[in-house]
Amino acid sequence: MKDRRKRGLLLSWNRFKFFRYTLLVVFFAGFAFSTFRLFFRDTVHPQLVSSWQTPAMNLVSGESPAISVKETVIFPDQALIFLKYPPSTPLFTKDAIDCVYFSPNSSTPQTKLSPMSIDGDYLGQQIVRCPLHPRGFTVSVDVRSNGHLSVGPTHRWDWLAYEAIIDRDNTTIVFVKGLNLRSGRASDPSKFECVFGWDFTRPKFLFRSEVISVAQEIVRCKTPLSILSGSQMVNDSIKVSVRVTRRGILDSVAWPDNRVPHPPARKQHEVCVCTMLRNQARFLREWVMYHARLGVQRWFIYDNNSDDDISNLIESLEDVDFNITRHVWPWMKTQEAGFAHCALRARDSCEWVAFIDVDEFLHLPSGLSLHNVLENQSRPSEVAELRVQCHSFGPSGLKQVPVKGVMVGYTCRLLAPERHKSIVKPEALNSTLINLVHHFHLKSGFRYSNMDRNVMVINHYKYQVWEVFKEKFYRRVATYVTDWQQEENVGSKDRVPGLGTKAVEPPDWSRQFCELADTSLKHRVLEMFSDPQTQMLPWQEKQQDEEEEQQVSILVEQNKKRRVKSLATVLL
Ligand SMILES: *[C@@H]1O[C@H](CO)[C@@H](O)[C@H](O)[C@H]1NC(C)=O
Ligand SMILES: *[C@@H]1O[C@H](CO)[C@@H](O)[C@H](O)[C@H]1NC(C)=O
Ligand SMILES: *[C@@H]1O[C@H](CO)[C@@H](O)[C@H](O)[C@H]1NC(C)=O
Ligand SMILES: *[C@@H]1O[C@H](CO)[C@@H](O)[C@H](O)[C@H]1NC(C)=O
Ligand SMILES: *[C@@H]1O[C@H](CO)[C@@H](O)[C@H](O)[C@H]1NC(C)=O
Ligand SMILES: *[C@@H]1O[C@H](CO)[C@@H](O)[C@H](O)[C@H]1NC(C)=O
Ligand SMILES: *[C@@H]1O[C@H](CO)[C@@H](O)[C@H](O)[C@H]1NC(C)=O
Repeated sequence: MKDRRKRGLLLSWNRFKFFRYTLLVVFFAGFAFSTFRLFFRDTVHPQLVSSWQTPAMNLVSGESPAISVKETVIFPDQALIFLKYPPSTPLFTKDAIDCVYFSPNSSTPQTKLSPMSIDGDYLGQQIVRCPLHPRGFTVSVDVRSNGHLSVGPTHRWDWLAYEAIIDRDNTTIVFVKGLNLRSGRASDPSKFECVFGWDFTRPKFLFRSEVISVAQEIVRCKTPLSILSGSQMVNDSIKVSVRVTRRGILDSVAWPDNRVPHPPARKQHEVCVCTMLRNQARFLREWVMYHARLGVQRWFIYDNNSDDDISNLIESLEDVDFNITRHVWPWMKTQEAGFAHCALRARDSCEWVAFIDVDEFLHLPSGLSLHNVLENQSRPSEVAELRVQCHSFGPSGLKQVPVKGVMVGYTCRLLAPERHKSIVKPEALNSTLINLVHHFHLKSGFRYSNMDRNVMVINHYKYQVWEVFKEKFYRRVATYVTDWQQEENVGSKDRVPGLGTKAVEPPDWSRQFCELADTSLKHRVLEMFSDPQTQMLPWQEKQQDEEEEQQVSILVEQNKKRRVKSLATVLL
């Protein structure tokens, strides 16, 4: 109580300061902006202002006339910069932007580097990924031809509220890093409080709300009325964060979406898929086309910093009418949270959601359709999770990437299934959204069912030809989950048996992990998909071109090493 009164007093003093400052800035900015418009009436190019000017400008014009850095999040190896745009500005491409670096005492950038990626229209903004280099320098972006933007508010990745969704029941779900709570359990909500505001380092106005549940790193709290109703006080840029007793308020880049979705009377899709990936674009065509034929109607791709041009591939799949979208998910060690986030997004349109990776393929050996299996399984209506066992396939004697895809190429596997994956009904998820190793906690009254392996199983092309597997090896090293280069992890279950701590091809790799020939899915696929004339599979279409391109790029690589520069042009 006392605490609250003190904060009230503080608030009015701050408000006074805020208005004084605002009046001044409004006058200045208003003048600057109208003058600017006078000179450039028809060809208004975005003007650059430092971020402190933006709010005031908004008060004048109702929309920001400038590009600015909204927020910056620092990761161990990169910075994520959220750019804010006037609504009419065309989006930037990678070529139009540089990352710029300032040494501690300087306001002119010392170094420029190309961004690692720039992601398109994401909640009305763009996200630029910049390498962190040199260390200790602050980072911003330079819009070519326009000059550099000033550095935005900067946050650590590991003390952060990073996404927020307003749920159907009007509660707000906040995804956070830094709580380090026990996994798989609900924690005591009374130690937490949600806060809604604009700047959590120097809060001027805060809306506070009660936390309903906290589990792992997902917080569910009540949503203040003014935010639900979108009242005058509240604009698009309000963020939500979490106050932790005795530890303070987390930083935040989480803008809750206040357009609460209304559940449609009927689900649009029977089966959808949620997946999280990084640099696995090469698998996507086959995986999407195959599962579409099984009955999957919608794909939610959570992309963790891929740099293999996956967005173009996804667009090309969209163009041929697959309902597939990519969601930028750069957050570290947040796989469970990503699944929960995806389940929430899928809930309104999907009856069932499969949580599988892009090297995992559902297979129905008995020939029943996925639709029939799901119908039959949901007959006892309390079944809301199907557990499907995974068979791990080995390189199957191959030394090169199989031309007809993984399902036809890899036909030898380990005898016993290694794990299982789930297909769940998102309506039945427990409101804590707890999930662990692909299993969600369900609402009470619901249960799971184990699938008979003869009815449904997953072919997991886990150990592919060395050229492919080695990528996975590097990926693992990069994830900090299990670092195979650290001797201390030598005994980990995640390691591949027989593989050391280096990405060197083990002798006889191509014959490992082969205990049983299993050509069941191969035959099914050839039967279902082979073109009667050409014997080609649909995902194979551009094979010839791709092979030629590969040949060229191999040659280019080889010649780079020999420092002969021009062979590629000679070849072309
Ligand atoms: C939204 O309102 C708050 C407080 O009134 C202000 O600090 C913030 O700059 C505003 N943002 C925008 C984009 O209008
Ligand atoms: C920055 O400036 C301060 C004070 O002028 C000085 O003590 C410090 O060494 C400078 N730091 C760097 C990295 O130049
Ligand atoms: C959620 O809030 C909106 C707007 O205040 C209200 O109309 C609606 O009835 C609320 N829904 C629930 C389930 O409380
Ligand atoms: C794709 O699925 C979403 C639901 O997740 C739906 O709203 C949308 O209309 C679908 N798009 C197409 C092109 O079918
Ligand atoms: C995404 O990749 C990074 C490495 O770049 C890793 O640290 C992080 O844990 C990954 N995130 C998830 C959710 O797996
Ligand atoms: C339908 O489900 C029941 C168990 O719920 C199972 O015994 C039966 O074999 C299933 N039938 C088919 C055709 O999948
Ligand atoms: C969610 O799970 C918890 C146990 O983890 C249980 O106490 C609670 O009743 C469940 N919620 C619902 C809505 O069933």
